[in-house]
Amino acid sequence: MKKVFMVCLSLPLFILCSCGGGGGGGTSSTPTTTVSSNSSSVSTSSVASSSKASSSAFSWSSVPALKDLASFPIGMEVSAADQERSIFTFPSQLPTIEKHFNSLVAGVIMKMSFLHPNENEFFYADADRLHGYAVDHNMLLHGHTLIWHWDSQIPAWMKNYTGDWATMLDNHVAQICTHFAGKVSSWDVVNEALDENEPSGYRQSIFYQRIGKKYIENAFIAARKADPNAVLYYNEYNIELSQTKLNFMLAMLDDFKSRNIPVDGVGFQMHLDLFNPSIDQIKRSFKAVADRGYKIRISELDIPVNYNSTLVLTDTYAQQQKERYKSIVQAYLEVVPENQRTGITFWGLVDGESWYNYIGLPAKEWPLLFNDDYSPKPAFYGVAEALAGK
Ligand code: G3I
Repeated sequence: MKKVFMVCLSLPLFILCSCGGGGGGGTSSTPTTTVSSNSSSVSTSSVASSSKASSSAFSWSSVPALKDLASFPIGMEVSAADQERSIFTFPSQLPTIEKHFNSLVAGVIMKMSFLHPNENEFFYADADRLHGYAVDHNMLLHGHTLIWHWDSQIPAWMKNYTGDWATMLDNHVAQICTHFAGKVSSWDVVNEALDENEPSGYRQSIFYQRIGKKYIENAFIAARKADPNAVLYYNEYNIELSQTKLNFMLAMLDDFKSRNIPVDGVGFQMHLDLFNPSIDQIKRSFKAVADRGYKIRISELDIPVNYNSTLVLTDTYAQQQKERYKSIVQAYLEVVPENQRTGITFWGLVDGESWYNYIGLPAKEWPLLFNDDYSPKPAFYGVAEALAGK
């Protein structure tokens, strides 16, 4: 089962399930893991055993606000517009979001097909509304993403485009970055352009096929020109898991640096599992990028536990997940110099909304920091402890 899961991850991370239902996945007997505020006891209602699993040495007197524990932005991926758990229509989540996070990223509504639905039409209203929410709550807005190969997020008109692709894509980037200049603090300019299974290292995306690898540098140049103040990221997955992919990325970045292509940082997506890659491997990949002077964001962190089809989040898994979250945050703090740490973003708030529940896995997943009732999981306390140096 683990193998199946890893295969799923190493495909471009998800196969969005069109096979019905959707709504957050899983069974109606969703177990709810609850954690007392001092994190010293964990109870999982649908776990037969009533064991108290947390062996945390440290006790909190109340639930700490994650953003207060960090010297860099603590971010969350949100749904917006008319999506199922939009922050504009699903108010029960707002107190938790506003307490813990000071940076937002749209999971869907700032992707290519949403912002640029037709060749001569850009659609900004939903993203502007999200920006308004971020401003009202003193949060940053990170833009995700200007160029991404994922088929359903490339607008149909673009797929059929027969003109000069380099000019068209430059215009796409320039228009969007111009609109959001002063609104977004940073952009994932290009997302997932590499493929370690390709001899060249480059994913055979439609952009690569039409323009060649130059589309990547063109995008950074166009973004910098249109918004000189936004921090520009190359965002990628499995660069901590695959040394081959990391090497391809480092070679690309070294080439860019030698030619002054304006890449400011790297987003490590980090959709990881409980055990792989090792913490040493994670540290090595952070260090290789940090040593080159790049800013590093952990851009999409989540840690699923259910790859072996367990139907409940057992206390053991909850504790392993806590330790895994903790050690990843500790690795980030240890290896990335303070002035290059630009944030940690979690890919969703509560387990029930995670993208993992939409990709046809055999069972529900619990990859995030909060239960569906917004109570913090042991995983939350793992992050809090690491941030607080406990
Ligand atoms: O909300 C509907 C639901 O009502 C319906 O039943 C269900 C059936 O398909 O779909 C639900 O919407 C889906 C939505 O995710 C739920 O959040 C959309 O179809 C689906 O397209 C959308 O997928 C997003 C995916 O990117 C494609 O844009 C995921 O939310 C989002 O988490 C995922 O994010 C990617 C990053 O951009 C890049 N890195 C990997 C990461 C995770 O896959």
